[in-house]
Parts: sequence; structure tokens; C-alpha cells
Amino acid sequence: TAPTDIKKGLAGVVVDTTAISKVNPETNSLLYRGYPVQELAATQPFEAVAHLLWHGELPTADELADLRREERAHRALAPRVRAAIDLLPLDTHPMDEVRTAVSVIGAIETAGIDSVLEVGGSPADNLARSIRLFAALPAIVAYGQRRRRGLEPIEPRDDLDYAANFLWMTFGEEADPVVVDAFNRSMILYAEHSFNASTFTARVVTSTLSDLHSAVVAAIGALKGPLHGGANEAVQHTLDEIGDASRVGAWLDDALAQKRKIMGFGHRVYKRGDSRVPTMQAALDTLVAHYDRPDVAELTHALEAEFVARKGIYPNLDFPSGPAYALIGFDTLTFTPLFVASRVTGWTAHILEQAASNALIRPLSAYDGPAERHVEGYVPDAAAL
Ligand code: CMC
Repeated sequence: TAPTDIKKGLAGVVVDTTAISKVNPETNSLLYRGYPVQELAATQPFEAVAHLLWHGELPTADELADLRREERAHRALAPRVRAAIDLLPLDTHPMDEVRTAVSVIGAIETAGIDSVLEVGGSPADNLARSIRLFAALPAIVAYGQRRRRGLEPIEPRDDLDYAANFLWMTFGEEADPVVVDAFNRSMILYAEHSFNASTFTARVVTSTLSDLHSAVVAAIGALKGPLHGGANEAVQHTLDEIGDASRVGAWLDDALAQKRKIMGFGHRVYKRGDSRVPTMQAALDTLVAHYDRPDVAELTHALEAEFVARKGIYPNLDFPSGPAYALIGFDTLTFTPLFVASRVTGWTAHILEQAASNALIRPLSAYDGPAERHVEGYVPDAAAL
């Protein structure tokens, strides 16, 4: 490979086909299994979108009831998982807690399998593991936030849907329907986005015939970085640092002079705006009105207007979702774990798809290190030649 042929960051490289989602930057659209994500966010509970991603079709009433039964049966924080989280220092980053918890769940799920030839599991095993992991994550994320606040975990509620129960387990009170709806929309918008860094990571691990939880643990590691999922946390740090709409101009002067990346803006694929932003922006506006926090709207609008005017770089989904999660009451450090709870649906759909038509992912590199050389004093062993 000539070094000039290298596509740094795999930019523009089409790696494989997928039937799960389609990103079209030209028309600014994102389709999950053919459905525009905005339509799904406006009409569906997150559980139905999870079913769509796994199976390719929206569920019938019976299928949705089956998925909900299974999801509710696996919502509780497992004692071994809690014990593993409790071993971690209280100031562990919550992404590390979630990564550890998924690793423990994987070890439990595959206990008794005594050959690497078997760990990959059958498609049915992997679908069942995906549903159980999807069901388990809210309790893990909720417990992380409560543990840092010195609070006991809250038992799940069987009478609440996924989104409402997630908020219940985090805050210990029933959330207003307006808040549940905004949170449900955010979960749907975060669920899937083709071959992004974390999904591709999950597919690489799966391609070696490793197990589903190993692939998800690796994906969590990729998502944690601020150029990817960590951006929703980073957006809130930025907003806290600026503090007030009147300070946006001066703050941007400084940040741009220091060549800082402004978190929550820009995207590898979308160059004229992220298709998910208008829906999440509307959800943020609803939350601003619900909590009566016009200051949040003023600050975010001022930063967006000023940065777009100066650089022509548009906000991505993390820009409105960060402040939305803050208004709901999530700690800033919990934002990226919320992204995990959602994206686990997309990751596992891709793991199932990769396993179904696998080819080991193993690209080439162009070597640019020293030319061949030899260790001083080395005398070849005549017998080995
Ligand atoms: N702030 C300041 N400058 C930026 C930004 C930004 N947020 N994004 C892009 N640029 C500039 C960049 O400095 C570069 O300028 P120049 O050509 O003068 O060097 C140019 O735009 C191209 O940027 P790039 O980083 O080479 O492009 P990329 O396709 O590798 O970057 C990105 C995509 C998401 C890594 C980048 O836009 C970024 O770092 N954004 C901030 C982090 C962020 O919000 N990430 C979330 C991504 S979307 C959802 C998700 O995955 O969670």
C-alpha cells in the first residue's frame, strides 16, 4: 500500500454493508431499518425501537408485550454486579463502572463455557443476551449516580415502561410525563448510527468470534472518548465553564485562540447539520419550559449562534442532549453512560449482523519504521538456518 492511498481515520471508506441504519448527509436524514428516526422518536417507546433494530420490523402488540415482559424480568441490579461496582472507588468515572458491570455480566452469562470455540454463541443466545443486557443497564447507570450521592439503589417498578422506570430507579420518584417523553426521545435518537467508532469496534471484536459482552465492553471503551460519546459530558463542562450567555463571545475568543475543539459541534459524516439535532432540540425546549430555565436556552442558543457564525460548524446530537440530561437531574458524569444504555441496542444489532455474515476484520498497514537492521553481536545459530 502506498502511503498516499491511506485513508486516515478510515474517512470515506465503506467497510461493509448493513441493513440496520442509513445515514444520508445529503438529505440530512437518518433511517433505522428504513424509518426516519424523527418519526420513531415522536411515536414509539424505546423498547419498540430496540425490537426494530434487532428484528428489522416494528413489533406487533404481542411482540412488544413479550419484549417488555423479558425486559422487566431482568431490570433488577444483580447482586454480583452491585458487589463489583462497590469494589470501585467512589470517584471512579461512571463509564468505568458501566464497562466493569458489563464485563461482570458477560462473565456470568458465559460461565460454564469451557472452549473459546463456543463463546460466540448461537444467534438465539446472542439475541437473548442482548435483551438481558439492554434490561440490566438502566439499573447500573442509576445505581452509579445514586452511589456517588451516598444513596441506596431503588428497586425497579414493573408497572412502568423502560424510560419511566429508568428515571424512577435514578431519582426514586415518578417523573412527569413531559420528562419521560423527552428522555424516551433521547434514547431513540442515540440508539444507532451505522459504522461509528464504537459500533465498528464492536464489529471488529465480533469478527474474531469472540463473545457479545466482550464486544460491548470494547465499544464502551471507544464511546468514552470525547471525540465520540464523551462529548455529551464535555458539552456540559463547556456550558458550566461559560456560565452565562453574555460571556459566550469572550469565551469563544479564548477557546478558538487556544485551538480548542468546541464539544458538541462538528461531525465526521454530517457537514451541514446532524439530522438528530432538531428533534433533540425540541425535547430540550420542552424541558426548558417544564423546569422554567430560560437561562439554559439563552446560553445554548448564544453558543450555537456564535460558533456557527464564526466557523460554519453545526451542533451534533450531544449539544442539546447534554443540557437536557442536566435539566432532568442527571449528574454530568452520568451523561455518557446514558448513551451506553441506548446505544447497546444498536451495538448488539450490529454484533448479530456481523456474526451472521462474518469475515475477520484485519486491515493492512504501510510500514514506515526503520529499514531492516540487526542486533549487534548476533551470530546466527547454524543449526537453525
Ligand atoms: N471545534 C472546533 N473546530 C472544529 C470542531 C469543533 N468541534 N469540529 C471540527 N473542527 C474543525 C477542525 O479543527 C478542523 O479544522 P482545520 O481543517 O482548520 O484543522 C476541521 O474542522 C475538520 O475537523 P476534523 O476534526 O479534522 O474532522 P473530523 O471529521 O475528524 O471530526 C469530530 C469530527 C466529531 C471528531 C470533530 O468535529 C470534533 O472533534 N468535534 C467535537 C467533539 C464532538 O462533539 N464529538 C461528538 C461527535 S457526534 C456524536 C457522537 O459520536 O457522540
